[in-house]
Amino acid sequence: MAILVVGGTGFIGGHLSRELVNELNAKDKLVLYDLYPNVEAVRDIKDKVVIEKGDILDMRKLFEVFKKYDISRVVDLVVFMRGSESDLFKATMTNLIGFQNLFEVSRLFDIERLVWASSDAVYGTPLGNEGPVDEEYLQNPDTVYGMCKMYEEFFAERYFRNYGIRNIAIRPSMVFGPLRYYRPVYFNVDIFENPPKGLPVPIGEKELNKEIDWVYVKDVSRAFKLALENRTIDFRVYNLGGEMKSVKDILAIVKKHVPSTEIIATPEASGMPPKSFEINWSKIQKELGYVPKYGLEAGVKDYIDSLNALEGAKVHS
Ligand SMILES: NC(=O)c1ccc[n+]([C@@H]2O[C@H](COP(=O)([O-])OP(=O)(O)OC[C@H]3O[C@@H](n4cnc5c(N)ncnc54)[C@H](O)[C@@H]3O)[C@@H](O)[C@H]2O)c1
Repeated sequence: MAILVVGGTGFIGGHLSRELVNELNAKDKLVLYDLYPNVEAVRDIKDKVVIEKGDILDMRKLFEVFKKYDISRVVDLVVFMRGSESDLFKATMTNLIGFQNLFEVSRLFDIERLVWASSDAVYGTPLGNEGPVDEEYLQNPDTVYGMCKMYEEFFAERYFRNYGIRNIAIRPSMVFGPLRYYRPVYFNVDIFENPPKGLPVPIGEKELNKEIDWVYVKDVSRAFKLALENRTIDFRVYNLGGEMKSVKDILAIVKKHVPSTEIIATPEASGMPPKSFEINWSKIQKELGYVPKYGLEAGVKDYIDSLNALEGAKVHS
């Protein structure tokens, strides 16, 4: 029996693999399937995992991998986001057809559990101002990415209803943390990683007070692990948020650990998301027993400590 993490050497995938690997039975395997395998993301556990290079669009390869390793549980973290507004064909192929491939192979192999990443992008601009957005809020995606996630959720529910594929979707808000090798769309790496490298943080002055719902990557990977281990839930979609904080507040926390943190306010925008909103994530707490281990303050500290521990990184004080 084995667990398959598709997109397993990406940002969340690397952290989740670390969470999972230490708890596997000796005879079980953790297989990371990725089109662009990034060994750096799993360097410390690379001898304990199997990496298979492959495309989620390659049904034959997926079949081979499911069969070869006797896959019983699956996590899907594949995404094509950056460029999805301009390359609609690739967005559809990767996010929708690829997703469907994985569900279909999972159905044919009668897997026990599938856990996959949706996103708070399904809310787009939330309709209504009644406070934190919970799972019942009407979805109003305003990006190709958000629309793909909305379709995926619909499709995943049908795969459960029609074929009994037991699957759980998690909608994280803005995830932050170390070992993000693919440059994200937004400015959510430099505000944490520039100060320890002794670099200033240039940030659009209008963005400093922007509030964003931040969730630490190690908390996110714990939530995915809990979902994967759950044996009772058939189909569910969960919000996964953290804390609403302005960019300025985040930089104040960073400064506690790196006193030399220097902010340069620039007239131009530096690339924060155009909007953000508070997420209600009580359902995942109640139903999966998710409790964040880090949260924001400890997450920022852990992030900076991890950077410091990485080769070549040095915290400037
Ligand atoms: N990071 C966030 O802030 C955030 C927030 C909400 C939701 N999510 C969702 O979580 C999931 C993981 O996000 P991430 O930040 O780890 O992304 P990531 O880009 O770091 O990881 C995605 C992985 O998928 C792989 N991949 C891409 N195309 C592939 C293909 N065709 N076949 C096989 N592998 C392919 C990439 O090589 C990469 O390793 C995504 O579904 C994303 O939409 C992320």
